[in-house]
Amino acid sequence: MLTIVICVGSSCYVRGSDKVAEILERLIQQENLSNQVELTGAFCMEHCSMGVSVRLNNQVYPELYPENTESFFYNEVIPCLKREVK
Ligand code: FES
Repeated sequence: MLTIVICVGSSCYVRGSDKVAEILERLIQQENLSNQVELTGAFCMEHCSMGVSVRLNNQVYPELYPENTESFFYNEVIPCLKREVK
């Protein structure tokens, strides 16, 4: 199971972490990956001055926005999943 951790701290919330979570949730459903990817929330990841912070496999991606969430999903999450399966 791959876990995507979304920062729900106040700076990230203001930048749209709830939207980012919603988009990721939709993409997970759309790709039928709900048994392989889980979404969870965490408090501040200490990159508050950037975009919404998301952690994937111990790496923090601090510049997510609703606009680039889909490309993050296809360029980072899916390849990560493929590596895990191997
Ligand atoms: S509130 Fe998200 S990184 Fe600080």
